[in-house]
Amino acid sequence: MNLIEAKHVTKTYTIGDRQIPVLDNISLSVTNGEFLVVEGSSGSGKTTLLCLLSGLDRPTSGRVLIEEKDITETPEDDLAPLRNQMIGFVFQSFHLVPSLTAIENVMFPAELKHDPRAHQKAQVLLKRVGLATRIDNFPHQLSGGEMQRVAMCRALINDPKIIFADEPTGNLDSENGEAILELLLEFHRERHSTLVLVTHNNKIATMADRMIILHDGRIVETIRHDYQHIA
Ligand SMILES: Nc1ncnc2c1ncn2[C@@H]1O[C@H](COP(=O)(O)OP(=O)(O)O)[C@@H](O)[C@H]1O
Ligand SMILES: [Mg+2]
Repeated sequence: MNLIEAKHVTKTYTIGDRQIPVLDNISLSVTNGEFLVVEGSSGSGKTTLLCLLSGLDRPTSGRVLIEEKDITETPEDDLAPLRNQMIGFVFQSFHLVPSLTAIENVMFPAELKHDPRAHQKAQVLLKRVGLATRIDNFPHQLSGGEMQRVAMCRALINDPKIIFADEPTGNLDSENGEAILELLLEFHRERHSTLVLVTHNNKIATMADRMIILHDGRIVETIRHDYQHIA
């Protein structure tokens, strides 16, 4: 089943009287459980694409469907709970709330939907990523790698069907970056969730089911990895 479908999606930014085309007629389907890697040079449109596929932003033209529901016309008030329930987003720059502790940041999406087990779930996740002793720390008391692990737990707490991770290791050293990617993959495998990952890490990219390469807002190459023939 197609979990996400983009149909002839275009995004154009208008600055003053200039029109800046960023995504040009992208059509793409992501199947349930797929691990998709998005690559492309800086400015090629990767972040914009993830924002459109996840409903964080809206296309200029074209449609985006999640589980066959057209989210392009869905009012923000209806879209926000859908995103909170179905989608986890890990950003390059963490986007933690500075005034909340690690565990409060992680609990936040679960509390939004009044999950009585929010605290317990957050604790389990933080422990799992090695932050058991850090749960009451504020973001400024954590290292980059730790902040990204907190952000990852926050993205996972509602057990989303889809995880979008946009260069989650971009601000980390290679050792911390590798650990984050391994964790994301581990969660993807054990929950059978769909993972859409922007990364320049070739080792991880070759583990994906499919890799698309963007250039100037278009998909210029698609590489499928078919593991069925590997013993
Ligand atoms: N809010 C915005 N307003 C105007 N231009 C933008 C905006 N966001 C992104 N862009 C432009 O869109 C292009 C693609 O950006 P982005 O999707 O962030 O690419 P990538 O993630 O591949 O580096 C870039 O040229 C960028 O400058
Ligand atoms: Mg980007």
